[in-house]
Amino acid sequence: MAEISISQVAFEHHREPLGIGEAKPRISWRFHGDASNWTQGGYSVEVQRDSEPELFHFNSSNSVLVPWPTVALSSSESATVRVRAYGQGDLPDTPWSDAVTVETGLFSKEDWSRAIMMGTEKKTEKNATHQPIHFLHQFSTNSTIEKARLYITAYGLYEAYINGNRVGNNVLAPGWQSYNHSHVYNTYDVTDLLQTGNNAIGIHVGEGWYAGRLGFFQGGTRNIWGDALGAMALLVIWTPTGKQVVNSYWGWVASRSGPLITAELYNGEVYDPRLEQTGWSSPDYRWRNDTNWLGNRELSTPYDQLVAPDGPPIRRVQEVQLQEILTSPTGKTILDFGQNLVGWLRLKVKGPSGTRIKLVHTEVLDHGEVATRPLRTATQTDEIILGEEPQTWEAAFTYKGFRYVQVENWPIEDTPLDEDAVVAVVVHSDLEEIGTFECSNPLINKLHHNIRWSMKGNFMSVPTDCPQRDERLGWTGDSHAFSPSANFLYDTSGFWRGWLRDLRSEQVKGVPPLVVPSVPGTGPPVATAIWGDAVVVNAWNTYLSSGDLDILREQYVGAKEWIDTGIPRNEDGLWDRNAFQLGDWLDPLSPPDDPGQATTSSSYVADAYLVYVTGLVGKMASELGLEDDRLHYEESVTNLKAAFREAWMSPEGRVAYETQTGLVLPLYFDLFKDGDEAVNASRRLQKIIEDNDYLVGTGFAGTHLLGLALSKYSLSETFYKMLLQTKVPSWLYQVKMNATTTWERWDSLLEDGSLNPGEMTSFNHYAVGSVANWIHQVIGGLAPVDPGWKTFKVQPIPGGNLTWAKTSYLSPYGKIYVEWSVDDTGFNLDLEVPPNTSAFVTLPRDTKNIRRVGSGKYHYSVAGFHL
Ligand code: BGC
Repeated sequence: MAEISISQVAFEHHREPLGIGEAKPRISWRFHGDASNWTQGGYSVEVQRDSEPELFHFNSSNSVLVPWPTVALSSSESATVRVRAYGQGDLPDTPWSDAVTVETGLFSKEDWSRAIMMGTEKKTEKNATHQPIHFLHQFSTNSTIEKARLYITAYGLYEAYINGNRVGNNVLAPGWQSYNHSHVYNTYDVTDLLQTGNNAIGIHVGEGWYAGRLGFFQGGTRNIWGDALGAMALLVIWTPTGKQVVNSYWGWVASRSGPLITAELYNGEVYDPRLEQTGWSSPDYRWRNDTNWLGNRELSTPYDQLVAPDGPPIRRVQEVQLQEILTSPTGKTILDFGQNLVGWLRLKVKGPSGTRIKLVHTEVLDHGEVATRPLRTATQTDEIILGEEPQTWEAAFTYKGFRYVQVENWPIEDTPLDEDAVVAVVVHSDLEEIGTFECSNPLINKLHHNIRWSMKGNFMSVPTDCPQRDERLGWTGDSHAFSPSANFLYDTSGFWRGWLRDLRSEQVKGVPPLVVPSVPGTGPPVATAIWGDAVVVNAWNTYLSSGDLDILREQYVGAKEWIDTGIPRNEDGLWDRNAFQLGDWLDPLSPPDDPGQATTSSSYVADAYLVYVTGLVGKMASELGLEDDRLHYEESVTNLKAAFREAWMSPEGRVAYETQTGLVLPLYFDLFKDGDEAVNASRRLQKIIEDNDYLVGTGFAGTHLLGLALSKYSLSETFYKMLLQTKVPSWLYQVKMNATTTWERWDSLLEDGSLNPGEMTSFNHYAVGSVANWIHQVIGGLAPVDPGWKTFKVQPIPGGNLTWAKTSYLSPYGKIYVEWSVDDTGFNLDLEVPPNTSAFVTLPRDTKNIRRVGSGKYHYSVAGFHL
């Protein structure tokens, strides 16, 4: 008997639905089981609140983001929900799902019960880093505790403690937002941390993004959102007799100093345990008459900005063991973790009191020494001073991108320097991993592994360009290129939703800043193609992977404004040629010190993208049922295409820049007059690539579309050759050079092992990894057709020297799996299609015959097929 069940019930895009911001959260469920051709005919939702459960039935095939069926939840209200789905006609029904509890956060200023953002009476540092502050409050609870919640945020980053225990496991909380527009608070279940009787709550706050140094312009800017650190908390305790509220208002004290002397995102921490106020957050700690403690003062409280998070928090996601200890040519001790990662070290060490251990973190070595030059002004250095006691230390308010750590002054006589003493802790936004890929070629597997690692390192509350130097900013262009790859590897819907909302709120006259959250020194919003186009493209890509029309709706006005008023134009509707452009950034032929100096004109690139993004806004309008808009943008596309051809193409269809990027863009964006012209152009592209020995010739504008454009014109084999190329510039060059992440430059490391002389040389940038999208779609054979994977394409195109590939994707409906191999008998394909979806399957050499199949397991073969 075929089976079907519900494997997961979710609310909006929350991994953990505690403290959510939606009063009527939409509900989704994934299926598990092998029922064939199963479609949903209806569903029941049971919602259990305080009283009797309510039961609702719907005749609907929707199982993703269905409306909340009942009265909206109020603040801090929870409901337990289970779902049952009914098969269409005679198809089997699922049993009831597990019951999942959803709970809301705080919806209004009143709900914060007079909690304020509190700062300290200590004078704040203006032109220097801020020393972290401890806030402390003691209180008592007389009755039994039924349940307790802590709602908390900070001006800076916080770690909260109740009765000496750490609250939750978020790190670098509340993450980074465009704080003038949205400021995240987190909700924790702290029931088990409290006790009847005396209690204490402590909050440790570091400067973080809010008040720390950011950017590289003139050494960076401090205090972008404010110069005073602060904490805001509301603790609500439910007892049999009612509610007790403890808020950040009266009766708190703040530390004058502390053991964490400095804690900066770029520069690391200096920690001296001898200055610890031991037991400071425990209920019996005596702070009265202690001059270390000051009163607090009220800062302006961001009630209007406070929001529950859309995406997951940053967490410690894994640990990496020490691989090797090296001695450098100058005699330095260097730890090698074997993987370029992002996070920090955890130390367990004892030694003479006052020993000052220094840890310098770098991504690579330069002539055997730690390479600090690519960090520019970020020192990535921690200093840990030892006290009398054995010390367990890990960072609180900083992070670093590193594989190597130079260790100075390790007390080797007391503590061996080994894998028990040091471990690397990897931190990033705690996204659900949903996509996997593996094939017969170990080098491609390594590349894919590196791409995932660069995603981990740069999905740090916002999508950053890099995790190591004095930058780490939310560059829009980078995420534009990488988002389809990201959306396959992890469930990014909530992550993008939050970031896109910030992007939208930072648009000025339609123009988004180049980095979101916006940071001084990256200029006022200046209209720039590709980077600015992220307002359209990232929203569309999120819609494509999630199927969430609300996200599209939230972004539609901003996308329209970008097209209608943001882009400065010529009379013909194309980009103003004087506009600032980054263009085909990091074209491999651009000089190391001038990455914008590409072989394809940046105006040409901008105009090609303009046609594409205008078309996407038309598609958005169509999805949202805005017919007039759809027609308007479709007409614009027709006019812009004509203008593009007029400006940049000869009457025979040759383009002004017969380069890789110059041809990829009009091919992928359908800018040629007709099919013949396009096919001719694709052959010219093929020739250019062949003449270039299958080396990559594209920068940011072309790289993420190169393979897709070739495959669109049946030239996948050409792209396989590029992908398998190991000479520089190519993807596998990096792998051959022992990369463990993807690099900013094709040749961040030169062939002789020395560093690229460009001052902008990161070893952890994800744009180059945008090739994962092609790997998933063409080697793996998987791509969504309908937004949210209700229908999808299965069309692996074997090539190169690959003999098999296995690809899986946990779609909103359940798991999709494709495995193919080529052997003496021919081509074999195994496929799993989840319930309530259908797949369009195309087999190699049989492209005319597209089979549409429903859920279930399938096997296909093409006898006699060989590579
Ligand atoms: C960043 C890039 C970014 C570029 C644009 C660089 O410094 O690291 O990835 O897109 O600037 O100017």
